[in-house]
Amino acid sequence: MKRIMELMEDAVKEAFTKAGYEEKFARVNVSNRPDLCEYQCNGAMAAAKTYKKAPIMIANDVVAFLKENELFSMAEAVNPGFINLKIAPAFLTKFLNEMQADENLSIEKEKAPKTIIIDYGGPNVAKPLHVGHLRSAIIGESIKRMGRFLGHKVIGDVHLGDWGLQMGLIITELKKRSPELVYFDDSFEGDYPEEAPFTVSELEEIYPAASAKSKEDEAYKNEALEATLQLQQGKRGYRALWNHIMKVSVEDLKKNYSKLHVDFDLWMGESDADRYIPDMVDYLKKNNYAYVDQGALVVDVKEESDTKEIPPCMILKSDGASLYNTTDLATIVQREEDYHPDEIIYVVDKRQELHFVQVFRCAKKAKMVEEKTALSFVGFGTMNGKDGKPFKTREGGVMRLERLIAEINDEMYKKIVENRSVKDENAQKTAEMVGLAAIKYGDLSNQASKDYIFDVERFTSFEGNTGPYILYTIVRIKSILEKYMQEGKNPNEGTILEAVNDSEKNLMLELSKFNSVIAPAFEEKAPHKICSYIYDLANAFNSFYHETKILSESNEEQKKSWIRLLVLCRDVLETCIDLLGFEAPERM
Ligand code: ARG
Repeated sequence: MKRIMELMEDAVKEAFTKAGYEEKFARVNVSNRPDLCEYQCNGAMAAAKTYKKAPIMIANDVVAFLKENELFSMAEAVNPGFINLKIAPAFLTKFLNEMQADENLSIEKEKAPKTIIIDYGGPNVAKPLHVGHLRSAIIGESIKRMGRFLGHKVIGDVHLGDWGLQMGLIITELKKRSPELVYFDDSFEGDYPEEAPFTVSELEEIYPAASAKSKEDEAYKNEALEATLQLQQGKRGYRALWNHIMKVSVEDLKKNYSKLHVDFDLWMGESDADRYIPDMVDYLKKNNYAYVDQGALVVDVKEESDTKEIPPCMILKSDGASLYNTTDLATIVQREEDYHPDEIIYVVDKRQELHFVQVFRCAKKAKMVEEKTALSFVGFGTMNGKDGKPFKTREGGVMRLERLIAEINDEMYKKIVENRSVKDENAQKTAEMVGLAAIKYGDLSNQASKDYIFDVERFTSFEGNTGPYILYTIVRIKSILEKYMQEGKNPNEGTILEAVNDSEKNLMLELSKFNSVIAPAFEEKAPHKICSYIYDLANAFNSFYHETKILSESNEEQKKSWIRLLVLCRDVLETCIDLLGFEAPERM
């Protein structure tokens, strides 16, 4: 279905042409004076220069033709040359009925779907998930869902941090604690045990311990570096340990991500890129993209237009070890080989921007991807506490994701139980659903690149621009529909009639914007645009609800029409929250 803006713009273009002006001036925008009109066209002002005429004259000429058009109930030229527009109720209703009949609620699926890989999550194996990983998971998941909804082929890859020094650190610490383990016996040639010699909680204690020691003890650090290198070179015992670490850790990660309703198609990681490195290095050298500088292998990536210094992209350290750049570049080679993607989107902390500038430039320069392949960086800001500093536990430690989720759920549970007169066995489950909405909406409603303050009180409130408020609105609609069905009636029958009052028309106008919002939100990788849309929609619904006695309406056709409007509103809201990555309970 065409967007309602396009339909209007088509009509305004026609009017410009008929009036003897170029159609390029016929741009239509949502009005910034909703008290005067719903949409407006400011093209007469721009056209005035071209035609050396007063803008109001041009506006009047155009309006003369718009008045004939059944799309508008009002078309008015106002000084100095605005064209103010109101949509005809009959037209709006027709649009909404078509939207309701459309299986995708007016959204057109992409005719030329792209293959898009989204690299998000990015947890480091063996380190517990902490709030730093929350944003990538939430934002990436939403972008993935948006792309799919529009018809693209989107592949989500968790891209585990599973190949760096952290692995060497864990191995070193294990060796210190249990040198008798068979993994450290270089003469051992048999099969290693199937069971890991540690649990996930032990692993989570081992890593920080090792990391702390390596910061104080130079020799310890060198041992860890050496272990990392040996692991990467394939030392049997270390590989076996690495497999254990991966298995235990990935299992735990999967559990945590599933609690967040975050789901990856690929559980690949830096380690998977390793086997692509030798050929890639050869290729870069042979084609003179890379050169040796003070022992290290580097590729120059600066460009003439740079305003700040972009250092060369280092591919190998002087000892031959690979780096973060190397695994990211090799992963591009791998993705190119496996999927030949049209775009790769990286959802990573914005502090890593320089790294990605280097990697993207290197990949393009060395023709590791085609010119047209888009490499996009969605850099997100930091999640801060109320003090404006990175979010911590009350004791000042790193906030683990599990704990954050548990705290929000407790808070939600309290609120939900307070609202109940009877005991509800589902309260815990409901609290989890609403809690997830609180966290995700709280995050996504901010522009990704901005830092934001994680305010538990505000995010869990049932009022204001929050996830729980959106869910509350959906639940309210569902409960009206439920009562309607209890009258023995079918909410899926009937058509939407023309609006009877302003609040109903406003709700209709909001609903009609749905397909104008989703595609641009995906283009711009901006889930916050969906949030602000559903906030407006929920507000419009609630004003309508407060002014209208839906179920006690005696005119059956009118009642049916409102029920149809409610169904559409519920469907749009539920589709949107699904794109954001959460869902609504039946009651709350
Ligand atoms: N593991 C990395 C970190 O925690 C993030 C990975 C992001 N993705 C990537 N392709 N580099 O900082």
